[in-house]
Amino acid sequence: MPLQRSALVAAGKSYRLKGISQRVRRINISAIKEMPLLASRLEGCLSLGQGIPSFPTPRHIVEAAFAAMTESPETGKYSLGPGLLELRKAVAFELSRKAGIPVDPQREICITVGAMEALAAAVLTVVDRGDEVILPTPNYASHIEQVLLAEGVPVFVPLLETDWQLDVKAFERAVTPRTKAIILCNPHNPTGANFRPEDLRRLVEIALRRDLFIISDETYDFLVYDGGMHFSLTSIPELRENLIATFSFSKKYAMTGWRVGYVFAAEGVLDQMMKIHDAVAICAPTVSQVAALAALSGPQECVWEIAAALRRRRDLTCRRLDGLRDHFCYVRPRGAYYLMARYTAPVDSMTYALRLLREARVITIPGAAFGPTGEGHIRLSFGGTEEEIDGAFDRMTRWLKTNPFPHS
Ligand SMILES: Cc1ncc(COP(=O)(O)O)c(C=O)c1O
Repeated sequence: MPLQRSALVAAGKSYRLKGISQRVRRINISAIKEMPLLASRLEGCLSLGQGIPSFPTPRHIVEAAFAAMTESPETGKYSLGPGLLELRKAVAFELSRKAGIPVDPQREICITVGAMEALAAAVLTVVDRGDEVILPTPNYASHIEQVLLAEGVPVFVPLLETDWQLDVKAFERAVTPRTKAIILCNPHNPTGANFRPEDLRRLVEIALRRDLFIISDETYDFLVYDGGMHFSLTSIPELRENLIATFSFSKKYAMTGWRVGYVFAAEGVLDQMMKIHDAVAICAPTVSQVAALAALSGPQECVWEIAAALRRRRDLTCRRLDGLRDHFCYVRPRGAYYLMARYTAPVDSMTYALRLLREARVITIPGAAFGPTGEGHIRLSFGGTEEEIDGAFDRMTRWLKTNPFPHS
C-alpha cells in the first residue's frame, strides 16, 4: 500500500483534518518525492532516489526559450489550451513517423504540464467512483495515487519477479465487470523492464475484448538498452479508441523542470480530457512549449548522449550491486533508469530506506511505495553522475559492513 504521510515527513505532528475531503485524505505524496524532502533536512546526502537525470537542458533548447522570451511577448502569455499549434504539429509528425499511423495535431494531441498532468487527466476522465483499474505491481507510485484520487479501486497484478515481465494470464484473471482501465508504463518505472511486444499485444486483445481503456505511460520511450526496441501501443491501430498514451520531454531532453509533455487520444476522448486540462492547468507553460519545439526540431545528438551515459550508469550500478550480492539481488534493467533491489535484511522497506538515509546518508525509495510486491525492495535510480553513484555505493558498502541488521 502507499506509504502513510505520517510515517515520513509529518512524523510526530498533528494536522487539521477536519474539513479536508475524504478523496484527498485517501492519497499520499509519493515516497519518491518525500525521501528527497527528508534528505534535504540532513547534511550531504547522495541520491539513488528520485529520477532526476543529472544532465543540464541542452544549450540550443535554453537559447530558443531565451530568444522567444526576449523577442516575442506572446511567450509570456497563455497559449491555446491544447498547446501551440506548431508544437502539436511537430509532436504529431514525430508520433506518426514512429507509430506508422496518421495523427491529427488539431484533434488528437494536447500539450500538457508534463506527462503527469496528462496521466491525471486521463484517469479522471475515464474512472468513476468504485471503478477498478488494473495496475502491475510494482508500479510507478503516482499511478496508484491518481486512481485513488479519482475514487477508483487499484487492482494489482504482480509482474513476474524473475524478469519483471507481464503475466498476461494474471491480467486476464483480474478483469471483472467493474474494470475500467489498465495503466501500463513501458519502459517500466520502477523495475527497468522493457515489456515484450507479444505480451503487450495479448494484453491489448484482452482490453479490446472487454472494452477497457489502456492508459499507456511512454515517458521512457527513448531509453532502452542492449539493442532492445521500445514497442509503443500507439502503433496498434485497432486500439485507437481505447488508448490514451502519454509522453514527456522531461527525461529525453533533460527538461524535468520545464514541465512539458503531451497526450495522444482519439478525438472524442481528448475532448473530454480537455475539460480537466482547462480546469486545472489552462495550458502548459508557453515558454516550455517553445523549448519543447526546439527540442523536437533541433539536433537529436543530445538524446543519444543522454541514453549512452545512462547505459554506462546502468552498467556501473549493476557492477556495484554485484559486489554486494550477499545483501541484494536484482533484475538487470533493460530500459528507463531504475531497478528494484531485493535486500536480504528482515525489515520492511520503509525501515530499510530510512536507516540507509539516516545512517549512511544515501537516498533510496522504499519499495512499498510501488505497490504490494514492492515490499522487500528498495528502488535505485541511476540518473545521477557516475561519481554520485560510486559515492553512494561506497557509503552503502561501509554501512553494510557495520552489520546494521544483526539478525539477517
Ligand atoms: C513513469 C513516469 N511517468 C510519468 C512521470 C512524470 O513525467 P513528467 O515530468 O513529464 O511529468 C515520471 C517521472 O519520473 C515517470 O517516471
